[in-house]
Amino acid sequence: MLKAEVLIDRDFAVGATDPRLFGAFVEHLGRCVYGGLFEPGHPEADERGFRRDVMALVKELAPTIMRYPGGNFVSGYNWEDGVGPVENRPRRLDLAWFSTEPNTFGTNEFIDWCREAGIEPMLAVNLGTRDGDAARHYLEYCNHPGGTALSDLRRSHGWEKPHDVKFWCLGNEMDGPWQMERKTATEYGRLATETAKMMKWTDKTIELAVCGSSARNMPTFGEWEYTVLDHTFDHVEFISLHTYFNNYAHDTAAFLASPDLMDSFIDEVVAIADAVAAKRRSSKRIMLSFDEWNVWYRTRAKGEGRAKPGWPEAPQILEEIYTMEDALTFGGACISLLNHADRVKSACLAQLVNAIAPIMTETGGPAWRQTIFHPFAQMSNLGRGTVLRSQVSSPTYSARYYDPRGAEELYYPMPEVPYVKVASVHNDEDKTLTLFVLNRHLEESITLDLDARGFNDMTLDQALELRHDDLQAINTKNAPDAVTPAPLDGVEVRGGRLQATLAPASWNVIRLKTPG
Ligand code: AHR
Repeated sequence: MLKAEVLIDRDFAVGATDPRLFGAFVEHLGRCVYGGLFEPGHPEADERGFRRDVMALVKELAPTIMRYPGGNFVSGYNWEDGVGPVENRPRRLDLAWFSTEPNTFGTNEFIDWCREAGIEPMLAVNLGTRDGDAARHYLEYCNHPGGTALSDLRRSHGWEKPHDVKFWCLGNEMDGPWQMERKTATEYGRLATETAKMMKWTDKTIELAVCGSSARNMPTFGEWEYTVLDHTFDHVEFISLHTYFNNYAHDTAAFLASPDLMDSFIDEVVAIADAVAAKRRSSKRIMLSFDEWNVWYRTRAKGEGRAKPGWPEAPQILEEIYTMEDALTFGGACISLLNHADRVKSACLAQLVNAIAPIMTETGGPAWRQTIFHPFAQMSNLGRGTVLRSQVSSPTYSARYYDPRGAEELYYPMPEVPYVKVASVHNDEDKTLTLFVLNRHLEESITLDLDARGFNDMTLDQALELRHDDLQAINTKNAPDAVTPAPLDGVEVRGGRLQATLAPASWNVIRLKTPG
């Protein structure tokens, strides 16, 4: 049998996982809000219209921070439209998703929903069609205690206490031609700087994320990050990254390899951010906010091609149905994020409900878990602690990942992809060591042989695998658990050594007790 050797050492830490690493994203997009988490009149809705069945699944998924209200949507959003008496709120055309926005759910409802879910809110300001003035007013409305027109407006709307939102995004994907009022790096860098200054003067306790390129395959990637950070370096804490994996090429091996490009992407953005710091002789380190990541390609038509005619409300768009294969690539991305815990201090699975989401609902009907729900829930629930450097010695394969950009056919050669990808998280308080392990071999089982130095008396707590003989298997309303974690048998633990057999094309989570 093929074998992968993994060496970790209790003292060789990458970094602590920030609670914000396990975030997700709610955009006014399709049925994410309306008919998703918010559906007045649904049998499961509470008095505010929040679906209790969705809320229960959200709590099980355990995201820690939630980005809102977009996404592309935010680049045309007037925050004022979504506050105050619902009957006075305007209906607007949304040019991001070619739908009608009723504005019956807005910032205050979102904050209430987050509080009930136990999730930190992350808000984005509109730097597409609007400017720094609108952004500082939005912040004042949300965070100022009272005694000014905007903070008293919030209080008059029924929210006496400030929302105290700490994490703010300065726009969204401002380099993308699909964005309302796209900017050049210099235009955006200037606007983001002036906006950041005013926002920090309004509330000095906030943290700000500036937009990086909307993808690694953008022609401006690299130059964009450098220019934008050169402008904003002194005023922001984070730069954003976005990645969506695809299998347009029907090449499963390459698809499963693609999270390794996420590792490269992170390393590259860290290098650029640190180059900007070096130019200033600054010891400040800009952290990474990977605030959109997921598998997304089947429903990814661009521009008006993704629209339903007639400007509908909450259209069924971007409702990607996730397969077993998608869950494996998704799990690989979880491992990439964990292994960069030193610099990726915030990340958001895009998105939460219905639109490219781990949770699906039927309007008026039930809610269920998609395949990708499971690796995320396991990462969020079990991935808290200190990530240890995993030295993996695994057989490899070569792949060519296809990631088109518009009409351009782009292929990324990947000559040495380890079949086994691993992240190890040690929690000294809980006395646990958790391994997240992906076997990307499509035909063969692989023996995992772990040498955990500094852990001398480990015992097995739990071991689960996610696999299915059919890589195209999906979860549906009628078969919601077709793809679900099952016990991983035969894990042997002795002292600081572990052996397990990883099934072909499987995602595995092994939790050990480490009393010493
Ligand atoms: O998450 C879907 C969309 O993908 C977001 O609105 C946008 O930021 C990205 O292009």
